[in-house]
Amino acid sequence: MFTIHVVDGFIETLYLAVYKEKVLLIDSGCRSDVPRIEQVMKRRLKRPMSQLKLTVASHTHPDHAGGAHTLRSRHAVPVAAPEEINRWYAGFSGGIQHKIDTLLGYVVAKAMNYPFEWIWYKKQLTVDHPLKDGDRLPGFEDWQVIATPGHTAHDVVLYHAQSRTLYAADVILKVGNSFRPPFPVSMRPEMRRSIDKLRNLEVDHLLMAHGGVIKTDDFPAILDIMLKEIDKGVPPGLKRLKKLEGFSPVVRQYNKNK
Ligand SMILES: [Fe+2]
Repeated sequence: MFTIHVVDGFIETLYLAVYKEKVLLIDSGCRSDVPRIEQVMKRRLKRPMSQLKLTVASHTHPDHAGGAHTLRSRHAVPVAAPEEINRWYAGFSGGIQHKIDTLLGYVVAKAMNYPFEWIWYKKQLTVDHPLKDGDRLPGFEDWQVIATPGHTAHDVVLYHAQSRTLYAADVILKVGNSFRPPFPVSMRPEMRRSIDKLRNLEVDHLLMAHGGVIKTDDFPAILDIMLKEIDKGVPPGLKRLKKLEGFSPVVRQYNKNK
């Protein structure tokens, strides 16, 4: 089995699943999180970076895929990511969305009063292991990939059945004491279906990219809250930002087909 080590990232929480002679990074964080990961590997875990055998990017946003580029180029860490990840920012309009999303990362950091960190990253990710629904992570076959579209079309979460652990990426967020959907929810019916799909899982430990780790004995109740929040739509405070989404060619096509 493994132990989970929490890495407090720039604007999200990262998790290292530490096994006897290998380590899995869930998920890749911002570009500026790479030194944090290096520090934890060296000082806390006393492991060489060569033991980091895989990093997962759950989706293309700067706080989930940004670090993957640097980990791959600096330490040759193989990257696993949804097979459709590079469609989201494809082309000119996808490039606009990429710039907006990266700038929003800075806005979030500023709102939280975090000091400035450079999080700019390339919009196209080199993927060594494309992932699809139901896959097992290469080298870490005890972790299953579950496709959970809604926030983007390609989001995935990771489930470890034996330990009843779910890494919920940007599908379930915890802000203060309340569970929240991410911003944006680009595809609301898909997001609802993704939440419902998680109902089949037995979950005792919930790892969140935004909200940390919780132990739960009533996971379905969390999913019920999520569905209610999704149905409420965009919170009033975020309505102005709504104009800043929808440039991805995937969303444009989706809205055209609606
Ligand atoms: Fe995201």
